[in-house]
Amino acid sequence: MGTIAENQDAWGHYDWSKGGDEWSHCWGGTESLWWTTLFPRVRRFVPAPRILEIAPGFGRITQYLKGLCDELIVVDLTERCIAACRERFAGESHISYHVNDGRSLDAIADGSIDFVFSYDSLVHAETDVIEAYLAQLGRKLRPDGAGFFHHGNLGSFRDAASGALTVANPHWRAESTAAADVVRYCEVAGLVCLSQELVAWGGDVLNDCFSTFTVRGSVYERSYQRFENPRFMDEAARALELARTYGLDGAIPLRRDPAPRPVARGPASAPRGLFARLRELVSPSS
Ligand SMILES: C[S@@+](CC[C@H](N)C(=O)[O-])C[C@H]1O[C@@H](n2cnc3c(N)ncnc32)[C@H](O)[C@@H]1O
Repeated sequence: MGTIAENQDAWGHYDWSKGGDEWSHCWGGTESLWWTTLFPRVRRFVPAPRILEIAPGFGRITQYLKGLCDELIVVDLTERCIAACRERFAGESHISYHVNDGRSLDAIADGSIDFVFSYDSLVHAETDVIEAYLAQLGRKLRPDGAGFFHHGNLGSFRDAASGALTVANPHWRAESTAAADVVRYCEVAGLVCLSQELVAWGGDVLNDCFSTFTVRGSVYERSYQRFENPRFMDEAARALELARTYGLDGAIPLRRDPAPRPVARGPASAPRGLFARLRELVSPSS
């Protein structure tokens, strides 16, 4: 797994009958994954006026991102995935959709993005693709723009003499991406890598990495933080227990708001838009 053509073939022919939710089972479901693992890691950057999601698949995380912005742009190299997102979010007028060639962000205006996000997708993309996206994001992000990329780190595990991989690759990871290179790609692009969390995805090897980055000189800039997290899957196991206990695995239905009650009097009522926004955050429709 690695080239753009291989990715296009794999995801174009994948059995998407569960929409990607099957990859959330270790967390007890996608809702649990979002609230326990993803949301805390991006909290500093959202809500944001204009979000770009790279490689949304069938919209597993898109369903949460769409409630955190005024405008959401999704870009994926697989036509079938973009078609599925269009259908799934047909009722949302603030989402736009683009099929790309696996590396181009030409469809996005320069200086227009506040937050860029990609999860569980670029782990399959080789390092030239990560470099290409970051190079363009240096232009596409607004002055205080920031990003979160989940990418591979197997490129850090190579024999110095032969270049051969020194660890197993059971999760279809791209083999050329190394976390340290991503820091360098950021620098070259005019970005600053804020943090890297090296995670062991289903094993002992720190095979994946969550990188956050920002535009050089932005309000988010600070010294680089690095966290080796070999116990990442413990977090998922904990989330699974919580999801089972509190029904985030779907065992308890979501409370749907009753029809809005007329407010008799009092100045403290929040504007309707705020309630709509909160509803969206807590129980995204899809
Ligand atoms: C494993 S799925 C994950 C989808 C979604 N992020 C999720 O978590 O459910 C991988 C997705 O990445 C997309 N993808 C892979 N390589 C890509 C690239 N270079 N550029 C854009 N999309 C890519 C695929 O088309 C597919 O939709």
